[in-house]
Amino acid sequence: MSDMRLAVIGASGRMGQMMIRTIAETPGVILTGALHRSNSSFIGQDAGELAGCRHLGIATSGSPEEVLANADGIIDFSTPTLTVEIAKLAAQGGIAHVIGTTGMSQDDLMRIKSSACNTVVVRSGNMSVGVNLLAAICEKISRALDPEWDIEIVEMHHRLKKDAPSGTALLLGEAAARGRKKSLSDCMVNNQHVPRRDGEIGFAVLRGGNVIGDHTVIFANTNERIEITHRAQSRELFCHGAIKAALWARHQKPGLYSMADVFITE
Ligand SMILES: NC(=O)c1ccc[n+]([C@@H]2O[C@H](COP(=O)([O-])OP(=O)(O)OC[C@H]3O[C@@H](n4cnc5c(N)ncnc54)[C@H](OP(=O)(O)O)[C@@H]3O)[C@@H](O)[C@H]2O)c1
Repeated sequence: MSDMRLAVIGASGRMGQMMIRTIAETPGVILTGALHRSNSSFIGQDAGELAGCRHLGIATSGSPEEVLANADGIIDFSTPTLTVEIAKLAAQGGIAHVIGTTGMSQDDLMRIKSSACNTVVVRSGNMSVGVNLLAAICEKISRALDPEWDIEIVEMHHRLKKDAPSGTALLLGEAAARGRKKSLSDCMVNNQHVPRRDGEIGFAVLRGGNVIGDHTVIFANTNERIEITHRAQSRELFCHGAIKAALWARHQKPGLYSMADVFITE
């Protein structure tokens, strides 16, 4: 099979830059487009050189249509507004859309869902094997424990992160709620909500420095405590997961998928 042609959305960002470097060194995929803001002074410059790797012969563009023109797949770590706009174009062009962007509203998610009627969409608040494994374990533990056990999720990220709680914290919370046969929206509370009541899942958010992403899920009752922690050591792990998802998406029918689908059926 020919190399999968990938367009990177949010190419000027922390994840976008790392994504371009990772695509450049991964067999089976090639970069065919990189989107910057239309008023960026970097438009027209080589995307590989801008990302700090080698010359890739792909000029950065400020036009989503141009960036998607030759792509089989899109890797998107950007902002909710841009991701929703790209999802519409992906659906029109039948281009697989891998979404790592977090902080989406219910309305954004509905739009993504409707795009997935026409193309393959893989969306996850975390693209790493470790976190998706942690989510599966959380669901299992939460199912096994009596309702008097409290569940708390603590996350820490770099000081510039725009959304809170993180997409990963929500993914873990959803898994824990699923274990109790509940919807997260019915039992989620923030750290200021005290005292805790039975069945609530608490979220605590820390910000500082350049932390890539630390998450701890705590299960506590009056006699004992279970704590499970995941620490991201490099953004590269999210990039490898996103490429895995894009290659997997190539063989799927239109629909909305998660990384759990990718890891379970690959
Ligand atoms: N799912 C996962 O595994 C995972 C892992 C890490 C991060 N994330 C998420 O991925 C997203 C990006 O993270 P990040 O740390 O890379 O953030 P970031 O550095 O702020 O990157 C986002 C990029 O999108 C660009 N952008 C925004 N609107 C645009 C537009 N209309 N046209 C062109 N470019 C536009 C921004 O450009 P400007 O700088 O000009 O605004 C910025 O470079 C966040 O939602 C984050 O939570 C997910």
